[in-house]
Formats: sequence, C-alpha cells, structure tokens
Amino acid sequence: MSPIAWRDEYSVGLPDVDHEHRVLIAMINETAAALGAQTPNSRIVAELGEICARIAAHFALEEREMRDLKYVGLGEHKRDHERLLEDILDIMADVESPRGYDPALLDRRLTTWFTEHFRTHDARLHHWLAARR
Ligand SMILES: [Fe+2]
Ligand SMILES: [Fe+2]
Repeated sequence: MSPIAWRDEYSVGLPDVDHEHRVLIAMINETAAALGAQTPNSRIVAELGEICARIAAHFALEEREMRDLKYVGLGEHKRDHERLLEDILDIMADVESPRGYDPALLDRRLTTWFTEHFRTHDARLHHWLAARR
C-alpha cells in the first residue's frame, strides 16, 4: 500500500494537534514500509509500541483542548480514542503471535486504523472549530 499522504482533512485547525498528526503519519508510514521486508517482528512491535505511546499522549492533548473549548462531541470522540488504543494493542499482539502476520493485511489494517479516526472524529472537531470562528 502506498504511504499515507497528508490531506487537509487530517488537520483540525489547532497547530499543536496538527503538528502531531503529521509526526504520527510519518511514524505509521515508516512502520508500514518495514512490514514484510524481512524486518524482525520484535522491531515492528517496538515501533508499534512507540506509536502507541505517542498516540496516547496525542489523544490526551486533544482531549485536554476539547475540554478547554467545551467541545460538544468530547464524549464520543474520547470513546473512539479508547477504541483505537485497544486496537493498536490488538495489532501488536497479532505481530507477536506465533502464527505470524500477513504484511499486506497488517499494512491495510494499520493505515485504516489511523486514517478513519482523522476522517471522521477529528474532522468533526475541525468543522465545529471552524464554525465558531
Ligand atoms: Fe482525535
Ligand atoms: Fe488526532
């Protein structure tokens, strides 16, 4: 799969959040590129662990900003963050499983995991912010 390219819809209009979105996309692309390329599973899991830690911090920042802004969709948005954190642990478990993993499938799963939330929940926050300005 081709790497995730930056799209305007991945921006929420808060500079610190948008900067992190770019960093996270770069990290995901790097890990996705390493899938299957005879990369040891331990390295993939370590990279996914870094993504997980980084995205957990990112979600905390986003939730703090949404709370400060009294964003109406905070509860629903936060629930999707929690779901994503569970998903990445699942993805890591798959990579570590003795069955091994299918690189193409994992690539698709990883990029979808990542971009769907941006396209829906983060985009809704973006529109809400834009309407208030
Ligand atoms: Fe979010
Ligand atoms: Fe985000």
